Parts: sequence; C-alpha cells; structure tokens
Amino acid sequence: MIILFLFSLSAQSQTAADAKMKAFIDALMKKMTLEEKIGQLNLPGSGDIVTGQAGNSDIAKKIKEGKVGGLFNIKSVAKIRDVQKVAVEQSRLKIPLIFGMDVIHGYETVFPIPLGLSCTWDMQLIERSARIAAQEASADGICWTFSPMVDIARDPRWGRIAEGSGEDAFLGSQIAKAMVRGYQGTDLTKNNTIMACTKHYALYGAAEAGRDYNTVDMSHQRMYNDYFPPFKAAVEAGAGSFMASFNEIDGVPATANKWLLTDVLRKQWGFKGFVVTDYTGINEMIAHGIGDLQTASARALMAGIDMDMVGEGILTTTTKSLKEGKVTIQRIDEACRKILEAKYKLGLFDDPYRYCDENRARNEIFTTVNRKEARNIAAQSFVLLKNQGNLLPLKKNGTIALIGPLADNKQNMPGTWSVAANFENATSLLTGLKEVAGNNVRILTARGSNLDYDSLFEDRAGMFGKSLHRDSRPASVIMQEAIDIADQSDVIVAALGESSEMTGEASSRTNIEIPDAQKALLNALLKTGKPVVLVLFTGRPLALKWEQDNVPAILNVWFGGSEAGYAIADVLFGDMNPSGKLTTTFPQNVGQIPLYYNHKNTGRPLPEGQWFQKFRSNYLDVSNDPVYPFGFGLSYTQFSYGELKLSDTTLKANQTLKASIDVTNSGSRDGKEVVQLYIRDVVGSTTRPVKELKGFQKVELKAGETKTVSFNIRQEDLKFYNYDLKYDWEPGEFVIMIGGNSRDVKSGSVTWVK
Ligand code: BGC
Repeated sequence: MIILFLFSLSAQSQTAADAKMKAFIDALMKKMTLEEKIGQLNLPGSGDIVTGQAGNSDIAKKIKEGKVGGLFNIKSVAKIRDVQKVAVEQSRLKIPLIFGMDVIHGYETVFPIPLGLSCTWDMQLIERSARIAAQEASADGICWTFSPMVDIARDPRWGRIAEGSGEDAFLGSQIAKAMVRGYQGTDLTKNNTIMACTKHYALYGAAEAGRDYNTVDMSHQRMYNDYFPPFKAAVEAGAGSFMASFNEIDGVPATANKWLLTDVLRKQWGFKGFVVTDYTGINEMIAHGIGDLQTASARALMAGIDMDMVGEGILTTTTKSLKEGKVTIQRIDEACRKILEAKYKLGLFDDPYRYCDENRARNEIFTTVNRKEARNIAAQSFVLLKNQGNLLPLKKNGTIALIGPLADNKQNMPGTWSVAANFENATSLLTGLKEVAGNNVRILTARGSNLDYDSLFEDRAGMFGKSLHRDSRPASVIMQEAIDIADQSDVIVAALGESSEMTGEASSRTNIEIPDAQKALLNALLKTGKPVVLVLFTGRPLALKWEQDNVPAILNVWFGGSEAGYAIADVLFGDMNPSGKLTTTFPQNVGQIPLYYNHKNTGRPLPEGQWFQKFRSNYLDVSNDPVYPFGFGLSYTQFSYGELKLSDTTLKANQTLKASIDVTNSGSRDGKEVVQLYIRDVVGSTTRPVKELKGFQKVELKAGETKTVSFNIRQEDLKFYNYDLKYDWEPGEFVIMIGGNSRDVKSGSVTWVK
C-alpha cells in the first residue's frame, strides 16, 4: 500500500516535471525559425578548437548562426566552456550545446575494454566503472557519452567485438542496464551524471564474415531473441539516447530504417529519448545505393533519426526536402524537441556551464582512489585459461624473464577507444611487475619479436600516426636477445598477442591466431625448457589450439586499462586470485566461426562426446568443440559442484522452481566463482537453442567452504519470441543446468504445464 502510494506520488511528480519541460520547450520552439530547428539536429565534427580561440574557429560561425546542436570529442573544461560561451552569448536564442564523447571504458582512469569488463560477470563492478567514467568525464565538461555499446557479437574476426559484452543476450542485457545506471545515476541534472547513448542500433555485430561495416541479413526471430534484448534492456533502464548502426537491416541501412528506429524502438519499446546517426551514417547511404545526400537525409529523418553526426546532410538539405514534400514539419519539430529535451534533462538550460567546473577537473580526474578501483576491476576481468601444475601464481623470488613486444608498452594498456586517456600515464607490465614483485625478484626483459613479421600489417593497424614501436633489427637478433635472458631465468613470462590497434573499429582480421613473429618467439621460448607463462593481450577470442596444447599457463588479460600493468602483476603473483569467465567462445580455428554456445541442435546433431560421424553436422578436419567454451575460466583454487536439486518435477503456470546446487571451494585459496544457470526448452513451436543462460551468481568462497547456490526460475524466464514474434513461453519439458561454464554442467529436467 505504502509502496503503491509512493509510486503514484513519484508518477505524479514525474508528470508535473514532464509538463514543465513541455511548456518550456513549447515556448522556446515557438521562437525558433525552421533553420534554427534544423540546426539543433546537427552534430558536426569539432575540428581543431584551440583554447581561448574558440570564437574564431570555423565551427563558431555555425554556432552563432544556430546551426549546431552539439559537439563531440572535445577535451577539457577550458575548451568546452569557450565553445559553450559562443552558443549562449552569441547565437540568437542562446540555446546551449550538448557535448559528447566516446567515453567507452573510462575517461582518464581507464578500465578494461568492455569485452574484458564483461568477463567479471559482476554488475556492481561494471556499474561502478561507468559511474567513475561519468564522474571524470562530467568533471571535464562532458555530459553525453557514446556508450554503452551493446552489440551482440559471435564473430571474433570483427575487431569491434572488443567494444561489446560478448555473445550472450541475457548477460548483455544485464550489463547494458548496469552501464546505463552507472552513467546516468538517478538524476541526470546532477553535474556528475552524463547521458548514455546505446549503440550501435542494431545488429552491427553480425556483419558478414566479420568484415567491418559489412552487410547484415538475419531472421526477425534471431533479431528479437539474440540481438535486440540488450537494446531493449537499455531502454528499460532509461537510456537517454541511441545511435543508429552503419549496417543494413532487411536491405535498408539502419540509419534509414523506419521499422527499426520508429516501429520497434519507439512504438514497441517505448523509447522516449533521441537517436543520433553514427559518424557520417547518412552520407554513407549514398554508397549503400539509397540515393543522393538529400534523399539519404530525408529518409533518415523520416525514419526516426533526430541528430546527424558529422555529415551535415540534414543541415544542408532539409529545407529543400520540406519544400518538395519529402519530409514533414512534424518530424522536424519532433526531432528538434527530442534534442531540446535532452539538453533540458541534463540541466543545461538552467546552467549551460553545469559541467564546466575547473575545480572538479583538477581534483576528480585520474585520482588515486579511481585508479585503485580500476586496478581491482582489471584484475577481476582477466581469465585464467590454463594453469598446468599450478605454475601460477609466481613466487616473489628468483629470476623472471619478461619477454615480448607487449612487455614494456604503456600505450598498449588502455586498449581501443580510449579517447580521453593520457597514454603516458598508463603503466606497462614491466613497471607493474617490478613494483609488485618487491626486492627479491630479479626481472630481466627483452622484446623478443615485433608484433608481426609484416611491417605493412602493423601500419594498417596503426591509427593517427601512432607508432607501434617497430624494432628495425633482424628478427633473429631480436629473438636471440630474448633467448639469452630466458636462459638465465627461473620462469618466462611471455607478453604476447594483439596490440590494441589490431582490435576495435576497422580492425577485422581473417587470421585470428597470435601473429606469426610472436608465435615463433613463443615456440623458441618453450624450447628453452623453462616454464612459460603466456600473458595474452587480445581484444577478441583468438584461435589458441596450439597454445592450449603446448604452453603450460595462459592468462588472458585483454586490454586492462590504465592500471593493467599493476593488475596483471597482482594476479601473476597471487595477490589477486583470478575469477574472470569468458563471455565469448574461443574457437579452434577461424573456419568454425560463428561458434557460440547457445546454438540450435539441427536435425543431425553430433552425439555428445564424439568428434565425427558421417552424415552428422560436423567437419572432417576439426571437432565441433571450442578450445574454451562460453563461461569458462579457471582460478588458483578449485571449485567442485554437488548434485543439482530441483524443488519440483512438474510445475503449473505461475509456480516458481527452485534450483540449487552445493558449490565447494576444494582448493587451498579463497576465491570467487561465477555459478551459471542454463535452461533448455526441449520442444517448441520453433526450434530452441541447446541451452540459454538464464541466471548467474558470483560467489565468494573461502578455502574449504561450501555454499548452496539457488536460483528461482519463473515462467518469465522461459519466454521467447515465437514465429509470430509473440513473447511467450510454451509448456513442456525443460532441462535445467547449473555449472561453472556452459559446457560442464549438472542437469535435471522438469515439466511445466500451462
Ligand atoms: C563509431 C562510433 C563512435 C563514433 C564517434 C564511429 O566511427 O562507429 O562507435 O561513437 O565514431 O566517434
């Protein structure tokens, strides 16, 4: 009763606040000319804005004319204040600008790349990372971030798999919500919260062959069940804006896809915020074959785009399109209103300098406290893939040979999309290792190899002239230097894998193995007979079959952010016990792609435990198994699972099934385990996946401790989008599975009747 009362009270005050906002915007829009309304829809590139000179920049002229709604990727309060001043003092209606940035996994304090962050399976930590990112960004003038990126991806060839949360819709949805909560908090008008922009809507992660920006074609069932859920979750969490993706959907680029932007997003899901294109998304529709810039812009606007990033198609063609009847004034008004509403919700009309506090900029960015949290979060994102004979953790004595092109490379640590990072502030693995090791460890180091034999490959990966520090000496000389120090060591730590530039946007690869030069180095290091720990840097699942067969210990550290050097050392020396679990499947080779845990059974499945049978769904040359399945990750301790207990065997519609299992830390160290619940819907009106993640709990267990982990399963958890895209559950048999990864599970079955 009290809750109901409070709810209706808060609903009332929300209605009153909405009415106040509407009245304000109505009054403002009455004063606006058509050109000024169109100007709000423009998000141009910022160009080179020099502090103190903003008023003279090219962009300033447009701002004064009311032709700019916002700007992005400008760094520093001073610059942002300067530009905002032009808008609120020199444009006719003094409408403030919105300032966005790609704050993707932290601001100056950088957290692990999103794919790594997702491997923590810890929603509080993930939310916390977004909260800190928002605090730092807002202290530096930013009020809008182009994050979270919630694209489901099942293709590790795609470089941007690094920016998302992996292959699973359920986990991806939880993370989408946590990120939105972290950025936006409970009150967007506060000066330390920023507006989220959920991207890339939609299906960008399903680009054919993993080639960036490529065509996408998929069934609506797969969209609704596997690719849309994190976007819908972000709407439910109140994300203030969305970004359209570059790819096409059903033959129409997302940027002009009315079904996607209006029917699904606004009508079905009730999204109330605004939609921005991706970078030149409208202009790119000329190459897609949609027509000239005017046609592309008109189609985008009428489909539901509210803001045009960089390309200025909407700015330059909409007046003409209106005269020619290609767009409506209602749509222009609606888009303009959405942008003004965002500014209103951020409190910019009350105080356009709300996010421009020099004191905050000085005191709240890259602080000791934030860096400490980043170090802790990074350590929890690492995934221990192999640890033969408990080679890890390392002892804090003896001689370690730290070898590899990524061993002493600060620039590599933050990872892709670290726009605000100060790369000089990042800590390399060598620095972190030295600090954490203490005085009893001798650390020798050598490069061992370049990233790749092919220097042109490195050039293609590099961006904006950023050097990858290629060593010009002959490969044999670089390697011999490493072998010489390896021979003097007790253990070799090989820091190998991808450089951050080899992952992320426009960094697709058809060969997803560790690059040749480094693999040769690894082989040579193994031949010394010394124990080798592979510290693997990567932004995607790599094909690691050979490494799994030959290297005794593998710790996957992704790109762990500004504090990664320390965090890796914390884990290598056992100050932190690794607990990360994979959120994408690691295939044996590129030919198996797409390989994901929640696949369908087919009419000719391979019997479990077998790797080949004629006329079954399989390959001649490789089994269907991954090297590491979804959900997999080891610890320095061991966890054992008891038998699965189910509270019922037959359930009626709204009954709750309780599934429990005893999990024991049977090793000698305290540790954390992510206990995962999967369900299989055995028979359906459409075919159903062999298993789907439906719950997880990260539990902390002392050495020797046992905890009972329980999940409550309701009919809601059984629902899916059927052939008619109706979201419902169907009665019948369900297999309930619980385990420490998607492969090794304990299972039981129940019947659910309607
Ligand atoms: C990317 C977006 C990004 C935008 C702005 C585009 O190239 O696809 O993810 O937010 O640039 O920097």
